[in-house]
Amino acid sequence: MTPPAALFRAEVAAGEMRLELCVLVLVLWGLPLQVTSEAHSFSIDYTSNSFRKDGVPFRYISGSIHYFRIPPAYWKDRLLKMYMSGLNAVQVYVPWNYHEPLPGMYNFIGDRDLEGFLDLVAQIGLLVILRPGPYICAEWEMGGLPFWLLAKPDIVLRTTNPDFLQAVDTWLDVLLPKIKPRLYCNGGNIISVQVENEYGSYYACDYDYLRHLMSVFRAHLGEEVVLFTTDGIKDLDLRCGTIQGLYATVDFGLGINITKAFEQQRVYEPKGPLVNSEYYTGWLDYWGEPHSTSSPEEVAQGLQKMLEVGANVNMYMFQGGTNFGYWSGADYKKTFKPITTSYDYDAPLSEAGDPTAKVYAIRTVIGKFQALPAGPMPPPTTKLAYGYVSLPQRINLLDILGLLSPVQPIRTPFPLTFEAMSQAHGFILYRTLLPHDIQKSVLLSVPNNGVHDLAYILLNGKYKGTLERDKVSGTNISGQAGDVLDLLVENMGRINFGANVSDFKGLIHNVTLDSTTLNDWIIYSLDIDSAVAGVWPPVAPTSRGNTGPAFYTGTFTTAGVNWDSYVKLPGWTKGQLWINGFNLGRFWPARGSQQTLFVPGLLLYSSAPNIITVLELQAAPEEPIVLFLDRPLFNRTKSSSHRNME
Ligand SMILES: *[C@@H]1O[C@H](CO)[C@@H](O)[C@H](O)[C@H]1NC(C)=O
Ligand SMILES: *[C@@H]1O[C@H](CO)[C@@H](O)[C@H](O)[C@H]1NC(C)=O
Ligand SMILES: *[C@@H]1O[C@H](CO)[C@@H](O)[C@H](O)[C@H]1NC(C)=O
Ligand SMILES: *[C@@H]1O[C@H](CO)[C@@H](O)[C@H](O)[C@H]1NC(C)=O
Ligand SMILES: *[C@@H]1O[C@H](CO)[C@@H](O)[C@H](O)[C@H]1NC(C)=O
Repeated sequence: MTPPAALFRAEVAAGEMRLELCVLVLVLWGLPLQVTSEAHSFSIDYTSNSFRKDGVPFRYISGSIHYFRIPPAYWKDRLLKMYMSGLNAVQVYVPWNYHEPLPGMYNFIGDRDLEGFLDLVAQIGLLVILRPGPYICAEWEMGGLPFWLLAKPDIVLRTTNPDFLQAVDTWLDVLLPKIKPRLYCNGGNIISVQVENEYGSYYACDYDYLRHLMSVFRAHLGEEVVLFTTDGIKDLDLRCGTIQGLYATVDFGLGINITKAFEQQRVYEPKGPLVNSEYYTGWLDYWGEPHSTSSPEEVAQGLQKMLEVGANVNMYMFQGGTNFGYWSGADYKKTFKPITTSYDYDAPLSEAGDPTAKVYAIRTVIGKFQALPAGPMPPPTTKLAYGYVSLPQRINLLDILGLLSPVQPIRTPFPLTFEAMSQAHGFILYRTLLPHDIQKSVLLSVPNNGVHDLAYILLNGKYKGTLERDKVSGTNISGQAGDVLDLLVENMGRINFGANVSDFKGLIHNVTLDSTTLNDWIIYSLDIDSAVAGVWPPVAPTSRGNTGPAFYTGTFTTAGVNWDSYVKLPGWTKGQLWINGFNLGRFWPARGSQQTLFVPGLLLYSSAPNIITVLELQAAPEEPIVLFLDRPLFNRTKSSSHRNME
């Protein structure tokens, strides 16, 4: 993709500024004896109620960006747009589970190249407010905690539980040494580091846990760096989320009385800078609910009021991005509420990284308080509607079990969870045989809400319906002794907020048939992504029909370009979609409101056929086609003024 000329101009502007920074660094290096301790310092100034950078009062206007929700090739473009919006800092979470997928197995390359991302931030000339967890929420799978912690079923997350602390300490021993040389006081651009995340909203209220984290952070990062906490403005949140030694900040969105909100911070920090660490520019979406939006004018007005009282503000999110693959999390508010694939958030930069009206409204406000960078905002990138693509090849999931499940299935008397099977995401197939003839249909069910989170039921390969957590616990079936009963269980993402973070997946209770427990199961751990990214489509019998879990594959060409696009699934029900082996995430148009998936252009071959694969779990349209559009679609939106995380 050729960047538009305006983008180049903006890069030059940022480049000049980089040059000045370099000169400054050279000067400092050249004159080591004259460098005072204030030359590259960042601290809290309790007399002027502000931060202090290089010895003078400093205020940040920052935005959140998640490198794990944006393809690496686009990181620089998004950061540049944040810089051009007038921000002087970005706020960044680090998801532990993204970097340590299995105990002791670390991944910091490619889309997980945290240091590469931080290098780009430094190059662009932005400061960093780092939030390394270990828990981050972020509407991310399990709030960033690794699923394998649950292999010890009695582990108590986010407390001084020894199993939990041991895993945390091992992780921080790997992560924090990468951070230390990048601290502002060590010549880098990280000005402050958050400890835990909205800990006051967690039921445990374990001060010893916070104190333990503080000592580990200090041991690795030294005494100088500003360590802080972030909590909602409710009394309980602040009471359980703050301790002596960590600077207490608050988070709140539109519709909150700003004076009152900062009064709450003042209860815990009578002096020092006012900080809203998460000023919500929009809000997250759940499947089955309208797309959240908020007015650019209101967001800008709220920002202005906070800047007028001298507060430091981080806008959450500045760009939301996408929950690719299986990374979206879920909330539990009376019922299980999975987060959508799009994390657009109605943020100032859209899911595709394009400036919206909100960017300009915010930029205008920022311009009243500090100098804006010279040069225009890079314009939206071109999107292309590649049109209809038909997916003629249909393969039943059950017909390629061997390919999808390369490891031997496990035989057990009773079902095992994903965690017991050591599988993080995706799908597991549970198979048993009907123990006796059933002439009149009887209830097949998983009591106690034991399906986490959806189970697609097949009898002798025929689709019989779906069970769903908190919604459908059973279905009636009939058959003969020896008939093959399969439950394909889908994990929709582990809960990321609140008391229910230990969210085991799979069949977490026994399956009963007419109230009798079914025993003797064969469990297939599925690795669908490796299969789809391998030789695909596989040599396998193609099948007819349109119900039940099946893969639909087709190809398309793009006439020499690879621009961003959005793919719509007209008449499809629920599933997962890959292009050229890359998992674009879940689709669920029957639930909405998200109707399209963002297709980053860099996934597409401009001069070779592209392979598109849809795993439909329930019912495909009679004519299996998808439609590439030049814009996203949500079929319901709501405008809202969000208060705080409830
Ligand atoms: C906001 O809160 C402050 C302090 O509690 C109060 O004095 C003020 O009247 C409130 N403003 C509005 C508009 O409610
Ligand atoms: C199963 O069948 C029984 C008896 O016909 C009926 O009362 C019940 O509603 C059915 N349950 C489901 C989940 O379809
Ligand atoms: C979630 O946590 C609440 C509060 O601890 C508890 O009452 C509820 O049973 C939990 N729900 C699930 C599904 O674990
Ligand atoms: C399943 O049933 C068996 C036999 O009654 C029991 O030992 C086991 O604990 C049950 N499993 C679950 C998860 O309830
Ligand atoms: C959104 O789309 C789904 C699936 O087509 C449909 O069931 C639902 O009624 C639609 N909602 C609106 C408001 O159009």
